[in-house]
Amino acid sequence: MSDLHIVEADEVLRERLGREWGPVVAAHMHLSDGFSLVALDGDTPAGLLAIAWRELPPPLPPTVEAFIDIIEVAAAYRRRGVARRLVALAAERARARGAYQLRAWSSADKDAAIPMWRALGFALCPATTYPRGAPVEGFFVARVLDYGTHARATSVSVPEDVPVAGSRVDSSARHVGPDLSMAIR
Ligand SMILES: CC(C)(COP(=O)(O)OP(=O)(O)OC[C@H]1O[C@@H](n2cnc3c(N)ncnc32)[C@H](O)[C@@H]1OP(=O)(O)O)[C@@H](O)C(=O)NCCC(=O)NCCS
Repeated sequence: MSDLHIVEADEVLRERLGREWGPVVAAHMHLSDGFSLVALDGDTPAGLLAIAWRELPPPLPPTVEAFIDIIEVAAAYRRRGVARRLVALAAERARARGAYQLRAWSSADKDAAIPMWRALGFALCPATTYPRGAPVEGFFVARVLDYGTHARATSVSVPEDVPVAGSRVDSSARHVGPDLSMAIR
């Protein structure tokens, strides 16, 4: 049993994830145009979720979504609720900033991710995309964040509720609130 905590990534943590998890991972981590949450076990990265703010097109009124550009949990930490916690925190933060929905894409070969989206209450929309000209089967998944009082904001602000990695004083989970520390199974 160990305690994990979640921090918001800064440039230093993004560079570190780039070295340890690879440049593709780092390239999907958003800082100024979204945010990136990193689950740490002590000082060891255990999971990552990055959100990119995206404005949805007309004929909608101004509507921002929080697009999950990457979600990944290190193999040793899977099936312990890390992704569930990352998604919950991302949803809380995106809702607080007025985003209408969380959305993501998983190709059909992601045999853990697709059941995960279902388990986490996302709608599943089978689709074919053509990222490099060739067809890729998969699912767009989406979850409305605050149905009934949905997003009116077109701009986002940065709340103070999650520490940015470089600003942490220590690794105690109290910095991110009781909901975000987790005794992993
Ligand atoms: C998909 C991934 C992020 C899940 O992370 P995780 O921390 O293991 O997920 P959680 O433990 O929070 O699981 C939440 C729920 O999702 C479902 N789930 C997760 N992994 C699953 C799997 N391998 N098979 C079936 N269901 C799964 C379960 O319902 C689970 O709840 P439960 O454990 O109480 O049954 C992780 O497996 C991963 O990083 N995979 C490789 C990268 C990847 O596919 N990323 C997504 C690309 S879009």
